Amino acid sequence: MPRGDKLPTVWERPPHTKAKHDILTRYLGAWFGIFGSSSQYQRVNVLDGFAGPGRYDDDEPGSPVLALNTLLGHQSFAKFGNTQFNFIFNEWDAERFASLQGVLADVKTERAPWPATVRMIERNQNFQDLASDLLTSIPAGQKLAPTFAFIDQFGYRDVPMALIRDLVSHPSCELFIYFDFNSVNRFANAGNVDTHFTAGDFQRMEDQMVAEGTVREWRVEEGWGVIDSASTPGGCWAFFTSVKSDKRHLVTGERVSFEWEPADQDGYRFRAVGVWPSRSEPVDRKPRRSGTDADGRTAVRDIRPE
Ligand SMILES: C[S@@+](CC[C@H](N)C(=O)[O-])C[C@H]1O[C@@H](n2cnc3c(N)ncnc32)[C@H](O)[C@@H]1O
Repeated sequence: MPRGDKLPTVWERPPHTKAKHDILTRYLGAWFGIFGSSSQYQRVNVLDGFAGPGRYDDDEPGSPVLALNTLLGHQSFAKFGNTQFNFIFNEWDAERFASLQGVLADVKTERAPWPATVRMIERNQNFQDLASDLLTSIPAGQKLAPTFAFIDQFGYRDVPMALIRDLVSHPSCELFIYFDFNSVNRFANAGNVDTHFTAGDFQRMEDQMVAEGTVREWRVEEGWGVIDSASTPGGCWAFFTSVKSDKRHLVTGERVSFEWEPADQDGYRFRAVGVWPSRSEPVDRKPRRSGTDADGRTAVRDIRPE
């Protein structure tokens, strides 16, 4: 498969990946404890659908090694008896898959003798195909064995919501998914998000893009500023024509309500469509003097903020 990202085969581990790994290992530790000790299940699956190359630049372990170590180092592993643990490690990129195979072979050597109850299945497929194969292979009326799926894609496009729905429709299937909210926002108007969501629901989200924030800075002479809020990471660019109050400008530190849209605006990924002081109603106002620029906006030169 052609690599869809610009990273090398093995890359440096960013801090957010460390956070993701901490959540993964803590959750899996509890999950193994529950399903390993249960006499109800003979077999459980861990599906790492976007397994990566198995390690990072600085030799930090990747998710497949962490998942295996969490089981093999579990304080109750000896009591898990005959429960069969199937690990399915899937990576689509050929070079990363080769790296992953090498890393897993090393883990097996280091952990020899390898327990008979732990099986590794290595796959080099598009996750969507793998998950569809898995789901269609279940005979009618039967259920998937308890499955923990780690879905750690770059961006959001590789895992349609319908696939997630089908996986979690099995009662003992749990997902830990990396959902890249920022990418979805960024490409919300590009026309390729719709196929990953139920179209109607997604379209209605546009009406809900209103947030509370604080004005980080306001450049009076230039008529623009930046608003910070949890919904607009990195800041939301605001032009004075979007200020819906009797005054024509915002003030640094001011609390505001604002409507935003995804944008590529002067280095910011969000642009305010309307801004007004918190706890007040937006006021639609007319420009004081005429004069619009080529985009139909009122020119900054002609109407300065007060
Ligand atoms: C975020 S990285 C995985 C990191 C790994 N889970 C970890 O924590 O160490 C995403 C991986 O998915 C692979 N990938 C991209 N698209 C894929 C697809 N459609 N199916 C399977 N793997 C894919 C990429 O090559 C990349 O190695």
